Amino acid sequence: MPRQLFRRIVSYKPKHFAKVTTVPELRHLRRKALLAQRSVGFVPTMGALHQGHLALIRQAAKENDQVYVSIYVNPTQFGVNEDLSSYPRTWPEDRVKLQALIAEFSTNNQLGQIAAVFMPSTKEMYPSAPPTSEIDGQGSFVTITPLSARLEGASRPVFFRGVATVCMKLLNIVQPERVYFGQKDIQQTFVVKRMVQDFHLDTEVRVGSTVREADGLAMSSRNVYLGERRRAVALVLLNSFKEVQQVFARGARKRRYLYNAAMDKLLSVQKQQEALPKGKRALFEVDYISIADPDTLDELEEVTVERGAILSGAIKMLPIEDSQEGEETGLGGGKSTVRLIDNIRLDLLSAKVGYIP
Ligand code: PAJ
Repeated sequence: MPRQLFRRIVSYKPKHFAKVTTVPELRHLRRKALLAQRSVGFVPTMGALHQGHLALIRQAAKENDQVYVSIYVNPTQFGVNEDLSSYPRTWPEDRVKLQALIAEFSTNNQLGQIAAVFMPSTKEMYPSAPPTSEIDGQGSFVTITPLSARLEGASRPVFFRGVATVCMKLLNIVQPERVYFGQKDIQQTFVVKRMVQDFHLDTEVRVGSTVREADGLAMSSRNVYLGERRRAVALVLLNSFKEVQQVFARGARKRRYLYNAAMDKLLSVQKQQEALPKGKRALFEVDYISIADPDTLDELEEVTVERGAILSGAIKMLPIEDSQEGEETGLGGGKSTVRLIDNIRLDLLSAKVGYIP
């Protein structure tokens, strides 16, 4: 009997996933999967699940027998002044979304199934010392330099140390055949790939494309803080990338032309907003615009059509100054700064058709 058919007949697809909070429990499940020759795909998340996360879980179910998802808001990747305490935690909603995926997967024999959701406590993840967010704090950390110091790392100095450390822990615990990350956090994919290579971790890093709202805004757990006014202006980052695509399509290759195309758009929208009254405007600051090599993330002076580039950026949507009666200001009442990131691949195809991969 062909192996695939045999596997389908003997494969039992549970309708419920195991919610696991400790490392030994998770290892026990993983060991059973290994002995049953079931491949495991792993999707690490911080919860507040949206379609971007769900797309990664779907991809993992296509490529593996079992999918493990982790939901853990990792303190070491938040800086001391960042939004750790207010980061959205929405387990009841997350559970419903995962259950819906289980139902979806159970009707298709070609797909694997969500087998475990790992939701450890911080004591479980950081057993010997309370985790620190201080730059010179003590503890067991994984640092990947110089990649971690650039772009996102320049604005958020402990961020990638925290990401690499927690991913190392999670990968050691789950030991998946494949691990899934989103293109939306492109630098994170570079840092994790480098870590997997340099520390000889036995897993394949898979990257899923960025999932966007209908108007193009990249989905993010933090979008719930925007509110309608800032939500409308938030699209400026992607719109600035579209300007770059256009000048690239018209033949511009040098960094300064490409960079200026993005900055001109950002600054003109910034000016428009500044001219509006406080009750109407949504101010933002530009953190960075990067035009980088698709393999190394080194900044490029010139983009070639053959290699293309990764165009990425970050803006900070500033708090709403004067909210109006009845205005939908988002979670937190529009009082917090919301940092947004995005990226697209710049190549001739994307420039010609305005295609956002
Ligand atoms: P989180 O922000 O929850 O994202 C979990 C995964 O979903 C990441 O790989 C991220 O790139 C991906 N993702 C988020 N928004 C996406 C979108 N719009 N389209 C496609 N993929 C998207 O990233 C983290 O958590 C953490 O740093 C983590 C890796 C879990 C380590 O703590």
